[in-house]
Amino acid sequence: MTVTLGKRTPEASLLTLLQECHERIRRFAALAVRLGSAEHEPPASLAEACVHCARYFSEALPLHVADEDQSLRPRLWGHSARVDEALELMAQQHREHQGPLAQLTAALAALAAAPAQPGLRDALRQIAAPLQEAFLAHLALEEAEVFPVVARWSAEQQQAVVLELRERRAEQLG
Ligand SMILES: [Fe+2]
Ligand SMILES: [Fe+2]
Repeated sequence: MTVTLGKRTPEASLLTLLQECHERIRRFAALAVRLGSAEHEPPASLAEACVHCARYFSEALPLHVADEDQSLRPRLWGHSARVDEALELMAQQHREHQGPLAQLTAALAALAAAPAQPGLRDALRQIAAPLQEAFLAHLALEEAEVFPVVARWSAEQQQAVVLELRERRAEQLG
């Protein structure tokens, strides 16, 4: 999946791009829960939505995680004990999400392959609902403790990181 950063706003600030990533995480986490409950969805459109959702979580989300662990964390580390603690927790949660994310993409793939099989929807919902809760808490932590520090960086500092984010996505396409 290609997610173009700041497509409509080439001069978008780093913070805007990060917030847009968070809105996508919220949207796709909610979609995964909905697909696990989509009893009246026609099988073909359910399968298509499952593929779309799985692709987001396996291709696009890891780029945002890399943005935070590789582009933000080293620049923020040492700012204060409180920020360091938040960064440690952020990285720990990224690691903790890996197992449930693998289960989620497997459940989405299974439902995409057999969208009329009701047990598969239940299985998806049981994985997607707690993962959505974990994501909401994770995003709230970053938005409360990490992003406000990024917001105080100069425009030049932010732009340097924006370039890194764009390079990360260009590498994936290349
Ligand atoms: Fe994160
Ligand atoms: Fe994030």
